[in-house]
Amino acid sequence: MGGKQSFPVVELPPNRVVVITGANTGIGYEAAKWIAMMGATVIMACRSKERAEKAMQKIQDEFQVEKEKGTPAICKLEKLSMEFMELDLGSFKSVRSFIEAYRSSGRELHVLVCNAGVALVPFTKTEDGYEIMLQVNYLSHFIIIAHLLPIMRKSGEDCRIVLVSSDAHRACNFDLNTMNYSGDPEKFGRLDYYGRSKLYQIMQMHSMQKRLKGSNVSVNSLHPGMVDTEISRNFQDFHMMKAFNRVVRLFGQMKTPIDGALPIINAVVNPDLKGVGGIYFKSLEGGYSTAEARDETKQEALWKKTLEVLKDEIPDDLIQELEGKM
Ligand SMILES: NC(=O)c1ccc[n+]([C@@H]2O[C@H](COP(=O)([O-])OP(=O)(O)OC[C@H]3O[C@@H](n4cnc5c(N)ncnc54)[C@H](OP(=O)(O)O)[C@@H]3O)[C@@H](O)[C@H]2O)c1
Repeated sequence: MGGKQSFPVVELPPNRVVVITGANTGIGYEAAKWIAMMGATVIMACRSKERAEKAMQKIQDEFQVEKEKGTPAICKLEKLSMEFMELDLGSFKSVRSFIEAYRSSGRELHVLVCNAGVALVPFTKTEDGYEIMLQVNYLSHFIIIAHLLPIMRKSGEDCRIVLVSSDAHRACNFDLNTMNYSGDPEKFGRLDYYGRSKLYQIMQMHSMQKRLKGSNVSVNSLHPGMVDTEISRNFQDFHMMKAFNRVVRLFGQMKTPIDGALPIINAVVNPDLKGVGGIYFKSLEGGYSTAEARDETKQEALWKKTLEVLKDEIPDDLIQELEGKM
């Protein structure tokens, strides 16, 4: 099976629809490939059509190779069921178009993997006025979840939301008054703000799981490990690379993208996780996030603040649904 077969391999029907953001490279690519090879329809929500189409072709080619090798437990399809949908998480306009396109496709949605992310970038403001890591990693995914949740609620049993977070949430300050950075760009704390965006995802997981408990939708988050992907393209400057290398030395060897994708694949396909949510996965086991991430008062403060910040993007009826009141 190419890499180690350490995630459960299950047969998925082609009418099980899995959306993965940022699936054209890195961890998302490997997750998309193996989930599609188990038979599901995978929608790659990516900002570049060209990169996504190249990635889909590569996955189809790799599928043929796995078939020729006689890899057990991959699907019997002639060709994998994969599609591209355009999504730039750095633009609310693009997020709205993606949501609209998904809605008007009329299709069900069983799994939403919020994987796309940017890390440790210098201070950058988006066209919507938000610090880019806050918007790409957290706010835009939050909007998509809010708008697609009603579709998931009507898509039958065992629907799942997976938030790809990071242990970088350990290295940040929780201060909602400075949620959107507006200070001196030279003094911008790249690790602090990356960590915050990842902390918010874990907190969102807890807040949502609490509200959706007992419904057909469960929410989990995870840390993929330190993985050798294109993520480091954002922090090639000397100072950040030095810090990064220090962290790598501290945590040991870098993982390969397939090893980094294991917790995503497991959270998406493991039959034992049907209806199970509220877990911060590290590899295939649940791990500990910080006490701050698990602090319910802070989770609720973030929830309230996020809905306030996104009031123009999420109408009241969708908030009711997010609150588990419909
Ligand atoms: N690698 C690690 O060590 C590590 C550790 C902890 C957590 N993570 C998390 O794992 C996730 C995947 O990271 P990775 O390591 O696979 O990184 P990667 O190789 O850089 O892939 C990131 C993906 O996100 C997409 N993306 C970035 N900005 C986007 C935007 N504005 N709109 C839509 N898509 C966008 C990228 O698309 P383009 O190709 O078009 O740029 C790419 O597909 C991230 O959430 C990251 O924070 C990674």
